[in-house]
Amino acid sequence: MKLSAFGEKFSGHSGIVEVMDDLGAALSENPEMIFMGGGNPGRVQHVEAIFQQRLETVMNDPAQRHSLFGIYQAPQGDLDFRKQVAGFLSKECGWKLTANNIAVSNGSQPAFFALYNMFAGNMSDGSHNSIHLPLAPEYLGYADIGLSEDFFTATRPTIDLLDDNLFKYRVDFSTLELTPETGAMCVSRPTNPTGNILTDDEIAHLDDIAKRHDIPFIIDGAYGAPFPNIMFTKATPHWNENTILTLSLSKLGLPGVRTGIIVAREEIIEAYCNVNAIISLACSTLGPALAKELFKTGEIVSLTRDHVTPFYQQRSTQTVQWFREAMGDLPYRIHKPEGAIFLWLWFEDLPISSQQLYQNLKARGVLVVAGQNFFIGMDDSWRHKHECIRVSYAQDADMVKKGVDIIAEEVRRAYANA
Ligand SMILES: Cc1ncc(COP(=O)(O)O)c(C=O)c1O
Repeated sequence: MKLSAFGEKFSGHSGIVEVMDDLGAALSENPEMIFMGGGNPGRVQHVEAIFQQRLETVMNDPAQRHSLFGIYQAPQGDLDFRKQVAGFLSKECGWKLTANNIAVSNGSQPAFFALYNMFAGNMSDGSHNSIHLPLAPEYLGYADIGLSEDFFTATRPTIDLLDDNLFKYRVDFSTLELTPETGAMCVSRPTNPTGNILTDDEIAHLDDIAKRHDIPFIIDGAYGAPFPNIMFTKATPHWNENTILTLSLSKLGLPGVRTGIIVAREEIIEAYCNVNAIISLACSTLGPALAKELFKTGEIVSLTRDHVTPFYQQRSTQTVQWFREAMGDLPYRIHKPEGAIFLWLWFEDLPISSQQLYQNLKARGVLVVAGQNFFIGMDDSWRHKHECIRVSYAQDADMVKKGVDIIAEEVRRAYANA
């Protein structure tokens, strides 16, 4: 098979392919695996019931059913849904939005493919732009998304060592450097993999830097406010005309319906939609059909506040407790869990690499994600990159507990064998 440069880059090995292969194998083919790897959401019964009910309503109405299955949507997505989302966000967050500021995508992942490649890569004047990640580790789904090489730059964070074996990354503004070749800046908030939530001050500072450099500030809100709101500390949602906010229905419990939402100024939405027509032709109708009413009535707020946030907060607290008990006096640290569905563990001076630890755990039937995959745009020899793993706590609690114990055993063995 003779492949193009595109074919070679995109069909080859990558971190995200490994994570999703593991996820598919564990959740569909080998259910005995303890799955603490990819970002599959947990099962929140009340939320599942709401979506089931909504689906039944749509299926029982011939007009809505036809609209769901039988009609291509415009590449910008269902107008009624966009109006409801714009109205909801305007009311909830005080932003001035209309349906023209909203686009629907088939999951936020393909939205990132389009947006990143719109702002970075080979420019028509012959230069090459990149996306800057002001705080890495960042979401590994970005890592291989660029159509050209050298697609990301990143700033190494400072590390605050906190009590109780916790730590927290902070944006190091003293070393954050953009160049004329920086095409956009992006953060996930809450951050995948760490569960960090950038503070309002950090966001305001980054927003200011982006504006001064005349580049968009992209905020990936896959876990964020105002929905799915998997956040355990207070943080203000952020948007303005220079911000591109991406949201998703996936972590509400609908990863299978593939619905992302982009909030941006009209010029960016129009450009995005033209790209989307070429790539996807049209948007899926299922997510909008299932979620429209929640935005119209505002029920999305109570649904997340009363069901989604507490589910993950309880899981997070419980899993940290289990790790404390299982790790004992091992030199472990956990990133302060402020949101998202993961714990980020750091084993200082771990005698084996995090990749080796991942492999040892996989051999024992526990899937995690090796930390080095998340240090995107950082081609340096920072040892810390090989001392961390990401652990999801979204799946069945008994399995999570078993997984925690096995992780602790393997980490203990690694230190003991040094
Ligand atoms: C931070 C972040 N952004 C984006 C995505 C993509 O999600 P989806 O394409 O399901 O909307 C994920 C998925 O795990 C994620 O963790």
